[in-house]
Amino acid sequence: MFDESIVGNLSGSLRASARGLEIIDQHRIKRGWKRQASIWYETALTTLATLKRFWQREPVSRESFVRLCEAVGARWQDIVDQTTLSPLVKVWDGVPDVSVFYGRTAELASLTQWMIGDTSTRCRVIALLGMGGIGKTLLVAKLAEQIQTHFECLIWRSLLSTVPAGMFINELIQFLTDDSELTIPDSLDSKISCLINCLEQRRSLLVLDQLETILSNDGFAGQYQEAHKGYSELLRRVGQESHNSCLVLTSREKTPEIAQLEGVNLPVRSLQLKGLDDEAARKLLRAKGLTEETQWGGLIQIYRGNPIMLKMVAATIGDSWNGNVSEFLRNSGTIVTGDLRRFIEVLFSRLSSLEKQVTIQLASTTEPMSFLTLQQALEQVSPSNLYESVESLVRRSFLEKSSAGFTLPPVVREYINCQLGE
Ligand SMILES: Nc1ncnc2c1ncn2[C@@H]1O[C@H](COP(=O)(O)OP(=O)(O)O)[C@@H](O)[C@H]1O
Ligand SMILES: [Mg+2]
Repeated sequence: MFDESIVGNLSGSLRASARGLEIIDQHRIKRGWKRQASIWYETALTTLATLKRFWQREPVSRESFVRLCEAVGARWQDIVDQTTLSPLVKVWDGVPDVSVFYGRTAELASLTQWMIGDTSTRCRVIALLGMGGIGKTLLVAKLAEQIQTHFECLIWRSLLSTVPAGMFINELIQFLTDDSELTIPDSLDSKISCLINCLEQRRSLLVLDQLETILSNDGFAGQYQEAHKGYSELLRRVGQESHNSCLVLTSREKTPEIAQLEGVNLPVRSLQLKGLDDEAARKLLRAKGLTEETQWGGLIQIYRGNPIMLKMVAATIGDSWNGNVSEFLRNSGTIVTGDLRRFIEVLFSRLSSLEKQVTIQLASTTEPMSFLTLQQALEQVSPSNLYESVESLVRRSFLEKSSAGFTLPPVVREYINCQLGE
């Protein structure tokens, strides 16, 4: 998926080859741009001085180099003097294949802006949040593929194979440093300082996938397991302190340090991922070979565009309903069967007991319930605890909030009613 020949060779600063400048000249003339056109260096978010250096075949920062080429419509790989390239660090295991990818245009555009936009508005930490199977991992993989050339180092780490924060930071430092003599300090604090120094030296993209693995299973969403609190400190400092890199994490739950540091115009931001839009979801169902397209709207609505749920249900309809979508939809008791049921079971098992109580209360009705009604129904619970659990459920996408009140998404309601019926 990743073009090894390209990413295997990048370095801090680059310069153009003589042939490269000829190519650039052709692109420039095609656009009707002067050699020092302000539209050119402004589009590339750089300065006239840098553009001049570029023309003189002097080294310019890798980032400006790539942008100057892209701004004029050239591939930087065709322009660069190969002898100025040195090895890139790339630790990129377990990244999913992104050759099948639908929709998400708006999300990709915002995230790209946040990661490689103007230096004054760029993010140091981005949290991509959303329910299991909604498409967080695939979206980061797609994004990384598109913007990899803007970074010197790419590191992808899934927390599914969990290591203590200190050990993880040691690994990162070893990948990122050029200094083979470097002794990594012992204390977590000094390790993080050392890492931030590396992140300042080399513009790197760190992906931390599946952060929820190290979050606690009891209590409200987003609390770290005791043994992994070091990760919270790591994220806090990488978000707060100045450096050149970007850390993207995916998680089902928002963690406290992200909530504290984030803001629409701040260097720490989060994106709550919703399901695929109708068009993208239809492409997915088409690829699964489902027929009866006129019925798909209902299906997409029930599963809120969640791609993994749509995949599972398309398989079930194919296997058990002879592909008959309308028949399947008429029988509402079957919307959570088979793999999908097991999938929701895992998500449900992570709820606190109070969160479970709230969902059970709401499962009895399809009408929105106001906070007040909910409070009356669960009068033994303190309002502040109730409020926290409701908010936590909303963050987990187990509860939907509208001006009329709270409702469960159909899949959650159906799952709970099945459980209660047994
Ligand atoms: N935009 C998309 N286009 C096509 N398939 C998708 C898309 N997003 C997710 N999927 C598919 O849905 C499933 C869940 O996606 P994933 O990224 O693993 O979700 P998450 O990380 O949120 O749990 C995967 O099989 C993935 O290939
Ligand atoms: Mg994932």
